[in-house]
Amino acid sequence: MHHTCVSCFFTHSLIAKCVILTENDCVQPIDEATVSPPVNPEEHEIVRKKILDSQYRCFEKMNRDPPYNKSGLHCSRNWDGWLCWDDTPGGTYTSQNCPNYFVDFDPTEKATKYCGEDGQWFRHPDTNRTWSNYTLCNENTNAKLKSAYILFYMAIVGHALSIASLLISLAIFFYFRSLSCQRITLHKNLFCSYVLNSALTIIYLVGVVNKPEVVSKNPVGCKVLHFFHMYMLGCNYFWMLCEGIYLHTLIVVAVFAEEQHLHWYYLLGWGFPLVPASIHAVARKKYFDDNCWMSVETHLLYAVHGPIVAALLVNLFFLLNIIRVLVTKLRDTHRAESNMYMKAVRATLILVPLLGIQFVIFPWRPENRLAGEVYEYIMHILMHYQGLLVATIFCFFNGEVQAALKRQWMQYKTQWGQRRKDHCSMRSTSYTATSISEVPAFIHVRMSHTVDKERSGGNTAEE
Ligand SMILES: *[C@@H]1O[C@H](CO)[C@@H](O)[C@H](O)[C@H]1NC(C)=O
Ligand SMILES: *[C@@H]1O[C@H](CO)[C@@H](O)[C@H](O)[C@H]1NC(C)=O
Ligand SMILES: *[C@@H]1O[C@H](CO)[C@@H](O)[C@H](O)[C@H]1NC(C)=O
Repeated sequence: MHHTCVSCFFTHSLIAKCVILTENDCVQPIDEATVSPPVNPEEHEIVRKKILDSQYRCFEKMNRDPPYNKSGLHCSRNWDGWLCWDDTPGGTYTSQNCPNYFVDFDPTEKATKYCGEDGQWFRHPDTNRTWSNYTLCNENTNAKLKSAYILFYMAIVGHALSIASLLISLAIFFYFRSLSCQRITLHKNLFCSYVLNSALTIIYLVGVVNKPEVVSKNPVGCKVLHFFHMYMLGCNYFWMLCEGIYLHTLIVVAVFAEEQHLHWYYLLGWGFPLVPASIHAVARKKYFDDNCWMSVETHLLYAVHGPIVAALLVNLFFLLNIIRVLVTKLRDTHRAESNMYMKAVRATLILVPLLGIQFVIFPWRPENRLAGEVYEYIMHILMHYQGLLVATIFCFFNGEVQAALKRQWMQYKTQWGQRRKDHCSMRSTSYTATSISEVPAFIHVRMSHTVDKERSGGNTAEE
C-alpha cells in the first residue's frame, strides 16, 4: 500500500518547505484536499539522502551490537524503513524519538513499536505487515498547518501596515518643508528601502511562496525576485547603519558640524548591499540551486546575513560611543546640545537592537512544540512589522513632526473659524518630548532658538 504524504509548511523565514514522499509505512496521509501537492525534487532528494544515511548507520549498528543474550522470546533488531529498532523482549512496547526527515514530523514526539508475546513484531491488521506506530509524529500537522497560514497572513498584514505607515511618514516629510534637512533625507532613504522591501516581500509571499506550481516550474523570475529581496534586506540595515554613522560623524568626529557630504551615504546605503546579494546569488546558482532559492537550510545565506549582522554591530558600537562622548566629554561644555542629541541617538539606539534581535534568536528555535510556536510568532513580528516600527519611532514619535502636524491642525481649525480651546501655539517650535521622541533633526540650524525655548519653559501660549 503506497500513500503519498504531502506536507507544506511555512517556517520562520516564510519559506514553504514542501515535501512529497512515498513510503510503505506512511500511516497518516494528510488530507490532500487542504494541501496542493507540490513536486519538489530537490527536497525529495534531501529526504531520500537522510533516510539512506540512517539506513546505512542502522545496518552498521546491527552488525556491531552483540547478539541478544537474555532469556525468553524477543523480536529481532530491524530497520523499518525510517528508524532502527533494537532487539526487544516479547510482550513489550519500545519507543524512540520521531525522525526529523519531514517538516511535519515533530522530533520531540515518540514513535512506538510493539513486540508480541510470540516474539514477532506487531503486524498491522489491514496489511499483515510489520508496522511501527508513527501516529504521534505528525498528529498535530493540521494544527501546525493552520498556524502556518495564520503566520503567513500575519506577515502580509505586517508588510501592508508597514507600507501604509511608511508612505504616510514620507508624505509628511515631503509636505512639511520645515522638516527638511540632512537627517530627514537619511530617514527618507531608509523609509524608501523599507517600502521597497515590504513590497517585494508581499510579491514574493503571494506570488511564489503561496504558489507551489510556480515553485515547481522554477522560472528565472522568482530567482531575480529573490535577489532583489536579499538586496533590499541589505539596504534596510545599511541605511540604518548610515543613520548611525551620520550621528557619529556629527557628534563625535566633527562635533556638531553643519553639513556632511551625503553621497558616501548613498553609496553605502544603496550601493554596498549589491555586493552580498550578488555573492549570494552567484554562490547559490553554483552550489545550492534549489527551486526559487526557497530553502533556508543552507549556510550560503550567511553571505547576506553576515554583513547585516556586522552592520548592526558596528552601528551599535557607534551609538554607544556617541552616548559615551555625550555623557562624559560634552556634558559640561555643551550641556543643552548634549541633551538634545541624546534624544536623537536614543531613537536610533532603541531601533538597532530591536532590528537585530531576530538574528540573535534565529538559530535558537526551541524543540518543544508550544515554545516553538511562540518563537515563530515572535520571529514573525520582529521580521514583518519592522517598517511600522521604524516609521513610528522615526516619524510619528518625532517631536518636530508632532509639532509640525499640530501647527497644521491649528491652522486648519482657525481657517474654518473654530475657536481655539487649547494653549498650543501656532508658531511655536516648542519641542514636545515624548518618551521615545527624538530631537528635531535640523537642530543645528535652529539650535539656539530651540534652546531658548526650552529655557524659557517650552510650551508658552502665544497668539
Ligand atoms: C549478555 O551480554 C552482556 C554484554 O556482552 C554481558 O555483560 C552479560 O553478562 C550477558 N548476559 C548473559 C545473561 O549472558
Ligand atoms: C500474515 O503473514 C504471516 C507471515 O507472512 C503469515 O504467517 C500469517 O498467516 C498472515 N496472517 C494473515 C491473517 O494473513
Ligand atoms: C498508535 O499510537 C496511537 C497513540 O499512542 C494510538 O492512539 C493508536 O491506537 C496506535 N495505533 C495502533 C494501530 O496501535
